[in-house]
Amino acid sequence: MLNHREILLIKMSWSYIVPMSDTIGFEFYSYLFSKNPEIKRLFENSIQNQSKKLMDTLTFIIVSLMHLNTLENYIEVIAMKHQAYPIQEEHYDMVGNALIHTLKVNLKQTWDKETEAAWIKLYNRIAEIMISTSKKHTVSHLAS
Ligand code: HEM
Repeated sequence: MLNHREILLIKMSWSYIVPMSDTIGFEFYSYLFSKNPEIKRLFENSIQNQSKKLMDTLTFIIVSLMHLNTLENYIEVIAMKHQAYPIQEEHYDMVGNALIHTLKVNLKQTWDKETEAAWIKLYNRIAEIMISTSKKHTVSHLAS
């Protein structure tokens, strides 16, 4: 999935984010909804609540980056929780763009092209697992 250097860059950048995770989570959703108002209706939880779940999930993923198998199973579980919502593939780009934007504006001078590339690779891998899990689930559901 990611090489050692990419993992290091992600862990370093996330260590700056964690102490500000409440504010940054809130900024992420504000930006996501301002750019894509049509997806706001999917979220029933308070932004505060949802933001805490997202930030804790990202922390778990980042802490576990060396343990690929465990991580893929964990991401599949998260994907299954999304089955309850009418989420489309293009929503993953919206979420990914909002995440990268929020990290970039908060990390300022510690953000560079290499860090950005590592984050994009991580996010794309997570999105890929989530999308393929949701497709598998839909197909087996239709077959039964
Ligand atoms: C990297 C990708 C993503 C991660 C890590 C992620 C993570 C999470 C987590 C941890 C939850 C809470 C689940 C629970 O209640 O235990 C959640 C809920 C949710 N996610 Fe995601 N998510 C991702 C992508 C998306 C995308 C692309 C959408 C589409 C807009 C989306 C929409 C939702 C919705 C609607 C909920 C339920 C919120 C509510 O009940 O108010 N997620 N997500």
